[in-house]
Amino acid sequence: MVKPSQNGNIDVITWLFVMYAAAMEAWLFDVLGCPAPGCDGKLRSANGPPPARDGVVKCRKCKADYPVLGGVPILVPAPEEWVAAYREAIVSSLAEVRRLTRQALEVIDSFAARAPRTEPLRFGDDWVPSEASDSEAPRPADLGPAASALDDFLVSAQTPSLPERLLSMLGRRSLGTVLELGPGAGTLSRHLRHRAKRLIVADLSLRATLRAVAACKKGRGAPVAGAVVDAEALPLRRGAARTVVAANVIDLLDHPAAFLSSVADGLANRGRLLLSTPAPGFGLPEGDAEILDGVVERSGLQITSAEDGLPWVRAHGHRHYEVYLVRAIVAERA
Ligand SMILES: C[S@@+](CC[C@H](N)C(=O)[O-])C[C@H]1O[C@@H](n2cnc3c(N)ncnc32)[C@H](O)[C@@H]1O
Ligand SMILES: [Zn+2]
Repeated sequence: MVKPSQNGNIDVITWLFVMYAAAMEAWLFDVLGCPAPGCDGKLRSANGPPPARDGVVKCRKCKADYPVLGGVPILVPAPEEWVAAYREAIVSSLAEVRRLTRQALEVIDSFAARAPRTEPLRFGDDWVPSEASDSEAPRPADLGPAASALDDFLVSAQTPSLPERLLSMLGRRSLGTVLELGPGAGTLSRHLRHRAKRLIVADLSLRATLRAVAACKKGRGAPVAGAVVDAEALPLRRGAARTVVAANVIDLLDHPAAFLSSVADGLANRGRLLLSTPAPGFGLPEGDAEILDGVVERSGLQITSAEDGLPWVRAHGHRHYEVYLVRAIVAERA
């Protein structure tokens, strides 16, 4: 509710801001729909305009309710269980970005009460400090020739960076509406925002979603919205995205084929999927590239380009580096 003030102009500005925030939510619901299995219904506010921060949205078709917390809709098939399991993690993630409100707590408690005795869980956040901030990644300590050779290797492995290499695979064609799944702290999201018409970052972790939205909202670029989704129950509406991006996520899923077929359904005609993974064999030792490519093509997508051995460097500290060699593919909906 916008309160009247002594200065009527301020009310008009506040009202415009509220309407702008509501409109931002509205386009998200053109892209993401009801996550209940087989539903694909359109979501709308349970009462009034879409909640800009905290509230409830309802499926027009199956009438299921989904919470909106800190401006992020929670679009998972059993939201009451998700909220009950992650209650403490949700509260601390909202507090971390100063979005913990009385209304958010009411929404959390109303959903959690429907799933009593749920075991508490933590978000499986996965980022190193330099991915979560604008800070430079730590260079190897000055510890002699081997450390210096490692430094040279790391510099050349990251020039260009993995986000730059991945985006160059998409060429110059417009990316349109982009859905990025599993953005982590938003390292790639920041780059995607400059190429997208509008961008949704969607992670199973609310904390990651909030981070990724904040990371790519620094500076100018396309409109950005966040959502909590489970990639294995993808609420992507039919034909709603021109580009889907999933960097280093598919190997974490139990059912990669189910994920890929819902991506294929959610892509517009000639829409594209950009996918990378450090484990294209899903844990099987031989012919790993063929395993990933086979699963992608069986989902109804056609691989248009592929690159292998792209270095993905995760710098934990001056003495601790992880280096993966990832396979990346672009696949198009025929
Ligand atoms: C290894 S991180 C990758 C982060 C980022 N894309 C990158 O390449 O730096 C994997 C991300 O996927 C998310 N994730 C894991 N399982 C998921 C699922 N079922 N649905 C959506 N996101 C998931 C994790 O929360 C995490 O943020
Ligand atoms: Zn529904």
